[in-house]
Amino acid sequence: MRISCVLTAAFSLLSIGQGVLGVPGPSPGPNLVGRQTRTTPLLAVFPGQDTLPTLADIINLNATNGTFLPLQNIQGDIFVGMKKQLETFYFFHINDATSFKTALKSYVPTITSTATLLSPASSQPLAFVNIAFSSSGLKELGITDNLGDQQFSSGMYADATNLGDSLSNWKSTYAGTDIHGVFLMGTDQTSYITSYLSDIESTFGSSITQLDRIDAAARPGSEAGHEHFGFLDGISNPAISGFSMNVLPGQAIVPPGIILIGRPGDATIRPPWTLDGTFMAFRRLQQKVPEFNKWTLDNAIQNEAKTLTVQQGADYLSARMFGRWKSGAPTDLSPEVDDPTLGADPQRNNNFDFSHLGSLLISDQSKCPFSAHIRKTNPRADLGDLNTINHAIRAGTPYGPEVSSSESSSNTTTQDRGLAFVEYQSNIGNGFRFQQINWANTANFPPLKTVTPGIEPIVGQGSPRTAEGLDPANQSKGYTIPQFVIPTGGEYFFMPSISALTSKIAA
Ligand code: HEM
Ligand SMILES: *[C@@H]1O[C@H](CO)[C@@H](O)[C@H](O)[C@H]1NC(C)=O
Ligand SMILES: *[C@@H]1O[C@H](CO)[C@@H](O)[C@H](O)[C@H]1NC(C)=O
Ligand SMILES: *[C@@H]1O[C@H](CO)[C@@H](O)[C@H](O)[C@H]1NC(C)=O
Ligand SMILES: *[C@@H]1O[C@H](CO)[C@@H](O)[C@H](O)[C@H]1NC(C)=O
Repeated sequence: MRISCVLTAAFSLLSIGQGVLGVPGPSPGPNLVGRQTRTTPLLAVFPGQDTLPTLADIINLNATNGTFLPLQNIQGDIFVGMKKQLETFYFFHINDATSFKTALKSYVPTITSTATLLSPASSQPLAFVNIAFSSSGLKELGITDNLGDQQFSSGMYADATNLGDSLSNWKSTYAGTDIHGVFLMGTDQTSYITSYLSDIESTFGSSITQLDRIDAAARPGSEAGHEHFGFLDGISNPAISGFSMNVLPGQAIVPPGIILIGRPGDATIRPPWTLDGTFMAFRRLQQKVPEFNKWTLDNAIQNEAKTLTVQQGADYLSARMFGRWKSGAPTDLSPEVDDPTLGADPQRNNNFDFSHLGSLLISDQSKCPFSAHIRKTNPRADLGDLNTINHAIRAGTPYGPEVSSSESSSNTTTQDRGLAFVEYQSNIGNGFRFQQINWANTANFPPLKTVTPGIEPIVGQGSPRTAEGLDPANQSKGYTIPQFVIPTGGEYFFMPSISALTSKIAA
């Protein structure tokens, strides 16, 4: 009875198009692309991932928990995670601040909120559009406020060496502070991206110049939701109190201020207009897939019974490098073989913390190496299951074509592919940057182990790139691992709340 009242309330809010959670309904783009609506939801559903709450759920959650995030004012991509069939990044330079601001004012109603993405398909636009600005972009618009984040202020290029990048690999577009902002578009049909792009170009005209565009997309067929090395991605993101319903077994719960500026959990004092914004760490990460495949074949490991083929031994090694099998099944729960049913089950695929009765957390790497990608970037019991501040929401999408047969047979990458990596957090130094520098790149992390864990084998940077623990039969065997993920650019952006676009950015 109570639930149905809440639902009725939710839908009347939707239909009148205003109120506390007032959803503006289909957003009117200047070229009216946004006026058409959908019959199917905009976001994809990939196996193994959690499901997003509906708007009605959130109203109910607020009723029971009393935490209320103004979802109609928070840009839509932030809480969505990796649920996009197609995602286009349009990086731009602002040529003329005054005409840019005029155009932005008229474009704000098209910027998609979280409330819109959580509402029924019939209230969703054909594509979602979000916008974010680099520090140089804000300066270009005359906004010189200190946002309280040093890495944001200097930009990612200035930080690239600290992150471990080779500057020579950075594409020239990103090498510097020329990128002033980015439009993010997500949908399920290329034609929608095309109309939104032409809408942006006609609205903003010569006030901006496109500097780069990345057309990212889920991989085809049964690889949808998997990154280019073949591993299911987007399985583990933190639950946000006040937002997430049905916290999954094993999922970390973090206060909203870990992601959103100015909410409980964000300890930094910043200008009031930054409330409900977030920092977006964008990384253009090229992946050398045939080279990765060759290396794992050449270093294939064996199980205890010595029954694995070379290919199975390569899959075993790569699963241990990630801490998950290609299906998403965690090696901590299924150490020797992939278990696709486990990988696809969100009730089970996060329900582990690397600790096991009767085994020593300080020395036992038989189920998951200390250096594994998911262990270095979310150490769970290695930090006593207590860490909440070093979480971020991952929301990237793979880019580039599938590996061709000639690349595969020559073991050589000839086409650019990788991950258009995005992480959202209220504090770059606690989120993405901490995971990259203090964890992935740091050989003696996790701490207090009986051996040195080594550098994280997928994205860890540093020299030598060595890790132990990958071979369960000889955990002290050291590996020197070529770098298969090459950072080729990136930027730190600030993604404001939707009201701040009008009240501050375009003012
Ligand atoms: C091309 C580069 C990358 C690839 C192929 C990749 C792939 C993956 C995969 C397959 C997973 C497991 C699925 C899941 O838990 O959702 C994962 C998890 C994760 N990755 Fe990455 N990743 C990449 C870059 C990064 C970077 C640069 C960072 C941060 C510095 C990062 C942070 C994380 C985090 C925090 C998790 C979740 C761990 C957990 O909560 O258990 N990843 N990644
Ligand atoms: C959420 O809860 C707060 C505090 O109980 C209340 O003031 C607010 O009106 C609620 N919002 C919605 C949308 O129900
Ligand atoms: C709602 O509040 C209850 C009781 O405090 C808590 O157990 C639950 O985790 C909360 N749910 C969310 C999603 O924050
Ligand atoms: C590719 O790598 C595999 C595994 O090492 C090897 O068997 C094969 O001969 C290599 N192909 C070429 C063309 O080098
Ligand atoms: C384990 O690896 C180390 C270092 O590579 C090697 O010296 C040692 O012989 C190996 N032990 C076994 C039992 O294979």
